[in-house]
Amino acid sequence: MVRKIRFGNPVHTGAVVNEIAVMENEGNLKFFEKTEQGFCYTMGEKDAVYGLGEANRGINKRGYKYISYCTDDPSHTEEKLSLYGAHNFIIIDGDCTFGVFIDNPGRVTFDVGYEKINELNIIPEYMDLDFYIIEGEGIKDIVRQFRKIIGQSYIPPRWAFGYQQCRWSYMNEDAIREVVKGYEDSGIPLTAVYMDIDYMEAYKDFTVSDERFPDFEDFVKEMKAKNIHLVPIIDAGVKIEQGYDVYEEGAERGYFVKDQEGRDYVTAVWPGLTCFPDFLNPEARHWFGLKYKTLTDKGIDGFWNDMNEPAIFYTQRGIDAVRDILKSESQTEEISIDTLMELKWKLNELANNDSDYKAMYHNMDGQIINHDRIHNLYGYNMTKAAAKGLEEIRPGERTLLFSRSSYIGMHRYAGIWMGDNQAWWSHILLNLKMLPSLNMCGFLYIGADIGGFGSNTTRELLLRWLALGVFTPLMRNHAALGTRLQECFRFEHTEDFKSVISCRYRLLPYLYSEYLKSVYENEMMFKPLSFEYREDEMCRNVEDQLIVGNEIMIAPVYTQNVTGRYVYLPEPMVMVTMYENGEEIKLLEKGIHFVPVPLNRVVFFVRENAKIPVVCTDYGKKLCDNTETVIEGSEITWLGKPEAEYSLYMDNGHSVNQKDDISVMNV
Ligand code: GLC
Repeated sequence: MVRKIRFGNPVHTGAVVNEIAVMENEGNLKFFEKTEQGFCYTMGEKDAVYGLGEANRGINKRGYKYISYCTDDPSHTEEKLSLYGAHNFIIIDGDCTFGVFIDNPGRVTFDVGYEKINELNIIPEYMDLDFYIIEGEGIKDIVRQFRKIIGQSYIPPRWAFGYQQCRWSYMNEDAIREVVKGYEDSGIPLTAVYMDIDYMEAYKDFTVSDERFPDFEDFVKEMKAKNIHLVPIIDAGVKIEQGYDVYEEGAERGYFVKDQEGRDYVTAVWPGLTCFPDFLNPEARHWFGLKYKTLTDKGIDGFWNDMNEPAIFYTQRGIDAVRDILKSESQTEEISIDTLMELKWKLNELANNDSDYKAMYHNMDGQIINHDRIHNLYGYNMTKAAAKGLEEIRPGERTLLFSRSSYIGMHRYAGIWMGDNQAWWSHILLNLKMLPSLNMCGFLYIGADIGGFGSNTTRELLLRWLALGVFTPLMRNHAALGTRLQECFRFEHTEDFKSVISCRYRLLPYLYSEYLKSVYENEMMFKPLSFEYREDEMCRNVEDQLIVGNEIMIAPVYTQNVTGRYVYLPEPMVMVTMYENGEEIKLLEKGIHFVPVPLNRVVFFVRENAKIPVVCTDYGKKLCDNTETVIEGSEITWLGKPEAEYSLYMDNGHSVNQKDDISVMNV
């Protein structure tokens, strides 16, 4: 049962697609009390709080606080309160189990036992919101009901389940050729290579540098012939430059975000001075969405949308504040420590400053609205613009699309990646922990920068991270400018990488089937153990293992220099130690085990009464082809209990489809 209680005059976010009758009466809050600042629930001693999508810390969110405010911050250390997405859905699981969704695109704080150990306080900055309470028959049913009201999740083309390589940036055609050849020579399968900001002419959206990619269309064809998809980045900011059509059209038609006086709001991002398209305005959205045609006309069939929190490097206001300090000091020879500190602060405050967000205005269906009130809708609507545009440009065909910033509702149009993480062991675990909470919020095509975006990775870290990435729908290795080269073939003993990445392709029949199932049945593809084994108290303590689909459990290694790890089995399971052309099988009893996990193997556990489809070991070179060949042209074999039943979901992998268009085979 879903209740919707309205406060103030909320904007229409589009997060919920079902019509639900509005209740005005605060009394309907049921579990919550309305306080001066927001809403308070008194938690039972054993209550766990799950959710919040892309958020820091544990699977159980209790004991800290989180702020929903899409933020470009590449250093996800433990004290950070906001990441790139804003996903206001939680489930309180304990004495009472129920879900809460706060539909408000401004800043919302979730204090989950931080100030007071037993209080869950939800504090919205603007009291204009719809407060949803969802009750059901247990935790999975609550997720299902929520997912139903927010609408069906995005399905990418099937090739997007292959292994993908990115770097900021491959500077020209030859740099990309070198990467593809490196993979080919080492026999490691590869499905896509990404094009970061340097493929553009002076970082201008929808342009391709003639100098770096002189024959772009031919180059796309050359790569397609090798079954490699090229995936360019699109940034939110549009460079201010006379003669640049996208800028001129946007300015002429009034499609950019405005300042208080109604002038185009000027910020600086990669291209220098930029304007932000007003993605809250449907006309601007339509205009921007059709621009993707410039690239699809050249054969491109996938995009990643970036810098759409939106990220701001500086504005004139910030620069003036820095200059003022410098001016006042210019007469003295020795700069005072106080001034130095102030200067440091001001420089730190240049990027993504609240005052800048508060000075931006949108035209939302004719209504002028301050950016701060709808901040979390910006990246969502950029991506909606792209998805709708691509629907028109490539009717009936799926396009790969994912975004950095997001809000619930965007899951219908695209996936997300988890932004700029670091080559830290702790970030493998953070990656794992965000998978179920994102699924709760409808985001299914998800993944992190494997190997770590910032800092230098190591061979061991990359291999361990890949062994988790084998299971995430988006499996992309990505690294920042200036870091150590991170493509798998750059390291010693490339056969180990071949072995791990090949397991992804071997597991595709299962992973793709479970993905479709999660979309069409509103299920989570990644579940904490506590969602599945409700009666097993131990499972509430396990935050480094997940159930993937319905049949298997994973327990990735996230520690340096270990040969294995402890795993808790809530039921007897079959341990599979998989490699490129085979697997070892061992039956394990319920309980705690130390399991060996060699660096070049992918270890997972098939549940007691289950079996899963995988590609036979005898596929030879086929693996280096694309995911289509692997799924369609290969013989399937089964791992697990032969007499168990499995529903294999399948479709043609590229058409936009509905549930009726897919085939379900009960084996
Ligand atoms: C941002 C993105 C990152 C990209 C970089 C350059 O930091 O998050 O993935 O590589 O910008 O475009």
